[in-house]
Amino acid sequence: MSLLTRRRLLRRAALSATAAGAARNGLAGAAAAGTVASATTVAGCDGTPDPDGEADPDGALRFPPGFGWGAATSAYQIEGAAKEDGRGESVWDTFSHTPGRTRNGDTGDVAADHYHRYPQDLDLMRDLGLRSYRFSISWPRIQADGSGRPNQRGLDFYRRLVDGLHERGIAPMATLFHWDLPQALQDAGGWENRDTAERFADYADLVFRALGDRVPVWLTVNEPKTVVQNGYLGGHHAPGRQDPAAAYLVAHHLQLAHGLAVRALRATGVEGRIGPALNLHPCYPADETAEAAAATRLYDGYENRLYLDSIFKGAYPADVLADLGPESRMVRGVRDGDLEIISSPVDLLAVQYYTPIYVTGQGDTVRRWPTSEAEWQQIYPEGMYDILTRVTRDYGRVPITITENGLPCPDTLAADGTVDDTARIDFLRDHFAAAHRAVRDGVPLESYHVWSLLDNFEWNEGYEQRWGLVYVDYPTQRRVLKRSAHWYRDVIRRNGL
Ligand code: FCB
Repeated sequence: MSLLTRRRLLRRAALSATAAGAARNGLAGAAAAGTVASATTVAGCDGTPDPDGEADPDGALRFPPGFGWGAATSAYQIEGAAKEDGRGESVWDTFSHTPGRTRNGDTGDVAADHYHRYPQDLDLMRDLGLRSYRFSISWPRIQADGSGRPNQRGLDFYRRLVDGLHERGIAPMATLFHWDLPQALQDAGGWENRDTAERFADYADLVFRALGDRVPVWLTVNEPKTVVQNGYLGGHHAPGRQDPAAAYLVAHHLQLAHGLAVRALRATGVEGRIGPALNLHPCYPADETAEAAAATRLYDGYENRLYLDSIFKGAYPADVLADLGPESRMVRGVRDGDLEIISSPVDLLAVQYYTPIYVTGQGDTVRRWPTSEAEWQQIYPEGMYDILTRVTRDYGRVPITITENGLPCPDTLAADGTVDDTARIDFLRDHFAAAHRAVRDGVPLESYHVWSLLDNFEWNEGYEQRWGLVYVDYPTQRRVLKRSAHWYRDVIRRNGL
């Protein structure tokens, strides 16, 4: 394994260790503490973004007619009802119930209790004026142990949810896998086991047959990279491993699962559209040296091209394969025909953008912009523009949906019943403006889902980070629209800023 790869792994392990006990970084706090790298001129990102500079003649930024303004959630983060109606255990049940794995020992047992309160949540979505809702289906609700006959009660829940969306004029967008792998499959080797990809295709087929007549857009695997990096390198996500050799084999099997699910949809004859959900990170050199440029290129390979090239070009990037080495478990695990499956034509690409990455000549990363409460997130709206235009430039005009973008804020419920999250409004405004500029420059962007509809279980960070447009008072499960939710309703009404 190369020096760069080793350095990256060590850095990630260190990051995850600090993440576990990290002090909360307010925006000002991060800057004051000197965690923002000093401004240097780097290729491709010179200067502060000026997202408002691209206004239409009337001063407004209008999105294309019918633009799909939405919000996103995932099953384990909001549903709760962990033991109800035949749901089996997932790796996240196991992980969150293991002492020391999550902040405050938080689990998704109850979460935002969405499984019981979904009618109320549907009404909230209608009140917000959402046009699209991106949610995930819990695999262990459909197959408790990850294989065999479907659990009708699990399917019925999602049917009720989807029907409720249609009744309110909201388009459903369903993710098949948002990290909650049935524990029984983990016990059989999880994503290290090639057979898990086949099990996923079977599960996808069951879901397509049950819901395919009412779900227009499907997303296969949410952020395969996060499973690889957080689940198998850093170990701060389920299944909590720190095993670089296994990690990239997992990357391959997750992509195989994606491709098999695409083929399963086509085989059913169901009409829906389908694509992957990738968290993409624009990577920039931290300085102007040739070393930084080279290290950034390889970093980009691991962050972006390892998933984009395979799905859209049918080949893993040569530089990443060379860095992993011919004897790596991943390279040895790729069989003839796998890349054809992985590159099965998709109908759209779901992009999730949160942060840029700045890479030094030594392959380390530095911060250049203020971070949010999530210490890994630097606030840089221009990165949204850069990643969207880059995808269109390098991979063609595949329709794009943004399925996640958002900010955690230290939200509190005031005595007068309001939640003032001005920082979230500023963040979203700047990112919407950057996306708008990408549309003006030819990116076929069709919808935008804010992460998240509701405050929820933020994985190893538990309930402390609040990412919702809607505040959840966990002791009472009361929902309160934050100021950003009111603001977003107006954006949707105006179809722009
Ligand atoms: C993404 C995840 C999502 C949420 C946000 C903050 O990586 O897909 O579930 O945790 O980050």
